[in-house]
Amino acid sequence: MKKTWFKELSVYQIWPRSFCDGNGDGIGDLKGVLGKLDYIKSLGVDAIWFSPLYVSPQKDYGYDIADYRNIAPEYGTMDDFKAVLEGAHARGLKVVMDLVVNHTSDQHEWFKKSAAGDPKYKDYYIWRPGKGKDGKKFPNNWMATFPGDGWQWNEQRGEYYLHLFAVEQPDLNHDNPAVREEVKSIMRFWLDMGVDGFREDVITYISKREGLPNGFPLPVMRGMEHYSPGPNIHKYLLEYRQVLKDYDAFQLGEAPMMTPENALKYITEGDNQQLDMMFQFQTMEADCFIVSYIRTKFNLLKLKRVYKNWQTKLYGKAWNTNYLENHDQPRIISRYGDEKNYRVESGKALATMYTFMSGTHFIYQGQEIGMTDYPFKDWSDFTDVATFSAKRLMEKTHLFSKKKLFENCAYAARDNARTPVQWNAEENAGFTTGTPWFHINPNYKDINVAAAEADEDSLLNYYRAILALRKQYKDAAIYGRYEEKLGRNKHIMAYDKIADDGSRLTVIINLSSKTVSARGARKCVPKGAVRLIGTYKWSLADMMKPYEAHVYYTAAPQAKQ
Ligand code: GLC
Ligand code: CA
Repeated sequence: MKKTWFKELSVYQIWPRSFCDGNGDGIGDLKGVLGKLDYIKSLGVDAIWFSPLYVSPQKDYGYDIADYRNIAPEYGTMDDFKAVLEGAHARGLKVVMDLVVNHTSDQHEWFKKSAAGDPKYKDYYIWRPGKGKDGKKFPNNWMATFPGDGWQWNEQRGEYYLHLFAVEQPDLNHDNPAVREEVKSIMRFWLDMGVDGFREDVITYISKREGLPNGFPLPVMRGMEHYSPGPNIHKYLLEYRQVLKDYDAFQLGEAPMMTPENALKYITEGDNQQLDMMFQFQTMEADCFIVSYIRTKFNLLKLKRVYKNWQTKLYGKAWNTNYLENHDQPRIISRYGDEKNYRVESGKALATMYTFMSGTHFIYQGQEIGMTDYPFKDWSDFTDVATFSAKRLMEKTHLFSKKKLFENCAYAARDNARTPVQWNAEENAGFTTGTPWFHINPNYKDINVAAAEADEDSLLNYYRAILALRKQYKDAAIYGRYEEKLGRNKHIMAYDKIADDGSRLTVIINLSSKTVSARGARKCVPKGAVRLIGTYKWSLADMMKPYEAHVYYTAAPQAKQ
């Protein structure tokens, strides 16, 4: 596998609104980020990905963009951004921007002009007349991801527009060459400024089937088979890819519902490659049924299958990404770990699990200190549009009691990941000197960066250590071949990562709150292997304690003597 700088990155994701407030207005901002660059660098990560910083009415917290070439005033100015970019680069940190071009905000100039029928902009979006006698019926039966209707009536234009997300996020019409030119020009704008890559929001949705036919009559995501993916997706992505030819930058596509087989159509290395890597969602489905609102018990066998699938099917052909959290996912310790009894241990076990997989590595703000989900008590505690539309949709199905419905929404809520980062035990967790825009998790007195810095055995320091090991043993950890062990064990995850020279890492983790037999696990440890790190200080004995993890290194055969 070809070695490239972006394959080796560990990327720290910042969701700016909740990272750090630099001016006391209660909202995270770029000044806050600037003050934390040394902290970010100290983690041993190599890059920062910013969730959208652009001008936005914040209906979907920045994923509804009103101006692609300016910074949201609440986050700062373009000069503030340039200072952060320079400060990051000076510390050897790359900077990745979010590129959200499936849709804009309905407050974008393009949309306003399109609604007004301005000839230049009239086909920038997907407009259709209403159907039926009264001309008010929807053009087709598609639904939006934030469950609800896929169409919204616009009085001024006298037509419907398509929105696959919130009503305030009209979909752009990528079939229009002028729109594609706009996208390329936005990319160049940021690349010329010096950014190092893009994370491309729901990029696999940008092409819609001609004629917009009705979708298969599903209760959710109806119409999806006509745009995920659509007929021209590879053509459009190849066109956007051309922009990168002039820059040393990379493209990462967010890809809901993606399988390894389909991913290979986008990311196989070679002339037809359209993206460098993708975010798949399958590793986030070990505790739910397709959507996070339908909860199941955490199923390690399911998770192991998914990892094995992606690690082996892409090997030698295409590049993976590995993440456990982001701004759309609840906190991982609250999902796959045990936040009540083994918060730190399960955090370490999960960190160990994914850090030695092949792929570009991602950490979401707060993950490194083991932040947990927020204890939501009431519907008024939520702020995310997605939760309210999920509620409406679930109410219609009558499948859940009121209590269960609330529990499902609280468990799945994206708001769990969006509470402010807990910096210290002082007022407002040190996030702001003002009034925080959103709830601070009441556990901030125990769980915060300052406390973790002071504790040698903290999750934070564990992340530092394993990120260093990922680099030190990169031929095995980052580029090695994945070989699953104990595939049928329901509690233990074990695998080898084998470098080209035969040296290997062996990772063995009890991913459960139970003490389990270590008989099988012990057989996985090669003779002469050296233990590098683990959840506890001891080495593998007859039994494995809850969330006990070990990483071993075995030198290449010829190097032994
Ligand atoms: C992506 C983003 C999510 C956003 C959606 C619409 O999934 O990660 O936060 O709501 O796209 O832009
Ligand atoms: Ca602020």
